[in-house]
Amino acid sequence: MRVRKAVLPVAGLGTRFLPASKVVPKELFPIVDKPILEIIIDELIDSGIEKILLVIRRGKEIISQHFDINYELQENLKEFSKFELLEKINSSNLASKITLIKQSQPLGFADAISFSKDFVCGEPFILCTGDELVVNENKNCIKQLIDAYERTNKSIVGVSFTPDDELHNYGIVDFERVGKYFQIKDIVEKPFINAPSNFAINGKYLMQSDIFEIIENQKNQIAGELLFTNCLLELARQGNAIGCEIIGKRYDTGDKFGFIKANIEYGLKDKNVSIKLKKYLRSVVNEL
Ligand code: UTP
Repeated sequence: MRVRKAVLPVAGLGTRFLPASKVVPKELFPIVDKPILEIIIDELIDSGIEKILLVIRRGKEIISQHFDINYELQENLKEFSKFELLEKINSSNLASKITLIKQSQPLGFADAISFSKDFVCGEPFILCTGDELVVNENKNCIKQLIDAYERTNKSIVGVSFTPDDELHNYGIVDFERVGKYFQIKDIVEKPFINAPSNFAINGKYLMQSDIFEIIENQKNQIAGELLFTNCLLELARQGNAIGCEIIGKRYDTGDKFGFIKANIEYGLKDKNVSIKLKKYLRSVVNEL
């Protein structure tokens, strides 16, 4: 079945970015001049995704405004012939492709996913966090996930090769190699020692709709916080979780250091900023 839908849970509290994220959702923070969420959505559209569900919460309604038409601004830019800027805001007018639903309480990523069951309606779907970027200018991350799904017909978990000193930040997979892909055997959350591999889950997935049944069962079985990792482990136990190494540079923008790194590296590629930024960075390095 062709992959047409995507679900993006963006209802989190974003506590690592307080006070900035108290009112402004961290998913709307800019990487140079484009919100993180818009970068993710552009990639989805570019990969043939037609319908996107954003799972938000009370207080994050401003996210829908960003993807809606702003006539006043549009007219102003037209009047002053600012066509390059007009093009930028027109490309963020995506309201017809985006639907929103509210998670009742911020009870975690897996709980947020459960709100998308009716939208998904039995189809395979892309699932992304609202704060992780994996950049590959040749074949984007979503196309790599779709490719893996078409070849294996199983649920796909995106993973990124990660250096030893960063493994303690992520879920790390243990696996058996099956050709180009990994049959996931186990996932160890944020290991400080004895990580089973150097492959970290990177917030990019392509799920089959049986994940909803697994989430519901886990909700009934486990008291306390429902972890998506536990749902993935159940999927792995059923032999239906395939790891796919996503080729590309990963930025975890939900983390301050990751956010700053992304801004520097995107800035180095931005035609208006690049030269000044390079000069500035060289001067800073000399002062270190
Ligand atoms: P994070 O683990 O980054 O959590 O969520 P968070 O709450 O956003 O941020 P911190 O850790 O407090 O700083 C990963 C993704 O899952 C969404 C977030 O919005 C983010 O895109 N999420 C998280 C939900 O949709 N609902 C939740 O209850 C929790």
